[in-house]
Amino acid sequence: MSVGGPHLDSESLRALSRRATEWIARYWARVGELPVLSRAAPGQVLRALPEHPPEVGIAGAGDSWDRVFDDLDRIVLPGLTHWQSPRFFAYFPANISTPSVIGELLGAGLGVQGMLWFTSPACTELETRVLDWMAELIGLPGAFRSTSPGGGGVIQGTASEGALSALVAGRDRVRRAMGAERVRDRLTVYASTQAHSSVIKAAMVAGLADGPDDRRRLRLVDVDGSLAMRPEALAAAIRQDAAAGLVPCLVCATVGTTGTTAVDPIAPIARAIADASPPGVRPWLHVDAALAGSACVCPEFRWMLDGVEHADSVCFNPHKWLLTNFDCDCFFTRDRRGLTRAHTIAPEYLRNAPSESGEVFDYRDWHVPLGRRFRSLKLWLVLRYYGAEGLREHVRGHVRLAALFESWVRGDPRFEIVAPRPLSLVCFRLRHPDDAGGEWSAGDVLNRRLLDALNATGRVFLTHTSVPAAGGARIALRLAVGSVTTREADVAEAWALVREHAGGVLGSSP
Ligand SMILES: Cc1ncc(COP(=O)(O)O)c(C=O)c1O
Repeated sequence: MSVGGPHLDSESLRALSRRATEWIARYWARVGELPVLSRAAPGQVLRALPEHPPEVGIAGAGDSWDRVFDDLDRIVLPGLTHWQSPRFFAYFPANISTPSVIGELLGAGLGVQGMLWFTSPACTELETRVLDWMAELIGLPGAFRSTSPGGGGVIQGTASEGALSALVAGRDRVRRAMGAERVRDRLTVYASTQAHSSVIKAAMVAGLADGPDDRRRLRLVDVDGSLAMRPEALAAAIRQDAAAGLVPCLVCATVGTTGTTAVDPIAPIARAIADASPPGVRPWLHVDAALAGSACVCPEFRWMLDGVEHADSVCFNPHKWLLTNFDCDCFFTRDRRGLTRAHTIAPEYLRNAPSESGEVFDYRDWHVPLGRRFRSLKLWLVLRYYGAEGLREHVRGHVRLAALFESWVRGDPRFEIVAPRPLSLVCFRLRHPDDAGGEWSAGDVLNRRLLDALNATGRVFLTHTSVPAAGGARIALRLAVGSVTTREADVAEAWALVREHAGGVLGSSP
């Protein structure tokens, strides 16, 4: 039986894409009314799906698009947490936008693999140009652009992959400088206690840590009162390790930590590295600005990247806060030779004249995967649609709403703000007389209860973090403003719910 070719005729394609885009538009129109956090029970979606794959599909008339759309409504939607809800305040946002969705569609339709320049020159060169635009927009020095002798940017999938790339580049650099044998099993990695777990994961994947708690070659450096890395503690750790024969290969500074958006001071960190590293050793300095990098499209937030000219790489995720669909991590380096040396392997089947000419970028050498999608299309369309001006407005609007929410929290004596708010994340907690207690104090229990009560309403979704404090870490609630449709009324509703449920949990407090 013939099931037809891979492509529909243009009329059928038009009808089907219209149906799909209308379904998406309907979803966007009503997402604010759906329970933000999915109420699906474990296994609910799985049970609703057939155990075996279809033998005869739509093409063979054994299924239909009607049934597909019906299943999307019946099975898939109830199993979703609605990241695009205007009252999604959890984790960090996962922005999307119409130009970005269209960019994804166009990239899918073109279906090119941009692993080498040779396999689609436009896929590489559009990415190069768009990344240079991004570098300019967030105020990175010229040394991070492709037009400089040693720099340039690449789109990676995630900041986690970026951290791994930085680590292997640092390891390669130190091995080359010191001799691989001399440094075997002696390389160390440094980040603050507030760094994202992806740094620890990178150390695990690269064989520098046996597990998430292995601290023999991974140091989590102490932070100050604003939860930023203390450069003098970094220097002390590097010196102490060097005295024991260990060699630093990566320092990761975080600009906008996941817990509280604390900002590690890059310039003093770079000085600490230079002062404390053993002679001849130049560890790679990576700046993880996964969320906060987007804010640097606004000049008033660029102070967070002060000193970035000393970094070897910096990355941020437009897929978090810059109107671009996942996945899109912009990774910039000042040392593209160092980065690509650590990732390059040239099997015969990939050899081609342009690569050998040295005149082109082969982005497969800039990160771990070989195959790569045409991801710059979506970023290109976002930039062309919004312009720098639109991006700034997007960020500033969220920061303003977060400031408003913070002012409401500060005005209610039952609450405290537990960390500085440089951007759009507010970390707060209900006060409790028992707050001086040990782990899982009554105050922590109270705040967990508040969080659960809020999320059970279905109207908002917030998450929590653990914030270092005198007498032990404390649980705090995080309200991260950043969904593309969040307006003042949504933040006001969140605050009304927080107040109402605070009354409830305080009333039942032990
Ligand atoms: C500071 C920071 N770094 C890294 C990550 C990991 O991001 P990704 O999902 O792109 O790997 C996050 C995620 O929230 C983050 O906040």
